Amino acid sequence: MEWKLPLIQLKDISFGYPNCGLVLSGVSLEVNKGDRIALLGGNGAGKTTLFHIMLGLIPPVSGSINIFGKRCVREKDFQEPRRKIGLLFQDPDDQLFSPSVIEDVSFGPLNLGMPRKEALEISRQCLERLGIAHLERRVPYELSGGEKKLVALASVIAMKPRILLLDEPMAGLENRAVERFLSVIQDEDFDAFIIITHLPHLIEHMVNRTLLLKDGRLRPQPSC
Ligand SMILES: Nc1ncnc2c1ncn2[C@@H]1O[C@H](COP(=O)(O)OP(=O)(O)OP(=O)(O)O)[C@@H](O)[C@H]1O
Ligand SMILES: [Mg+2]
Repeated sequence: MEWKLPLIQLKDISFGYPNCGLVLSGVSLEVNKGDRIALLGGNGAGKTTLFHIMLGLIPPVSGSINIFGKRCVREKDFQEPRRKIGLLFQDPDDQLFSPSVIEDVSFGPLNLGMPRKEALEISRQCLERLGIAHLERRVPYELSGGEKKLVALASVIAMKPRILLLDEPMAGLENRAVERFLSVIQDEDFDAFIIITHLPHLIEHMVNRTLLLKDGRLRPQPSC
């Protein structure tokens, strides 16, 4: 059956960290099937915070979150949606925790119940497509910043998520790695993605909406 409801719907979300003013002030957003969104905004605008709120990692002060048509309030409401929404953290050190790259990348698929052989196969394919198959046996925390970012990306894509939330996926990557990343994102059949970036010109050809977060508010931008 064709999915008609918004995949993700945020209504009037406000949030501030303790001892700071409001970071988000009445943010509303609908993510629909087919959306390819660039999320822009200056340093400290609240982009990462918005991703974390979307997946229930931090609770908003006010507003509502619906994912796949279900209201999400408590931690348990977000558990199922998180299996289908791949979040790439801005800092790969928040994502990688296993003793080897292949274990990190296959952790997600195994956790979703995939048989070991298949999980390893998919993980190796993702590493290959991102040009980092040679890192398979390495210890993640010993990798360079760009290598870590690519491994974290492989670990998100290996889970075959319906929606991708990518926080600065291209930061610190060399040109060839950016090209590989872009071709992986374009080839996969995601229902929607949101990419936070300070490099909008690199993705302008593949997005259909550009949003700017400024002064706590989210506004559409005509183009990158
Ligand atoms: N854990 C925290 N405690 C207190 N303040 C925080 C915390 N995390 C972020 N902030 C503040 O909230 C604001 C928004 O931060 P956020 O990380 O969401 O910005 P961002 O748009 O992702 O910026 P960048 O482009 O630099 O990654 C910033 O002013 C930041 O200093
Ligand atoms: Mg950020």
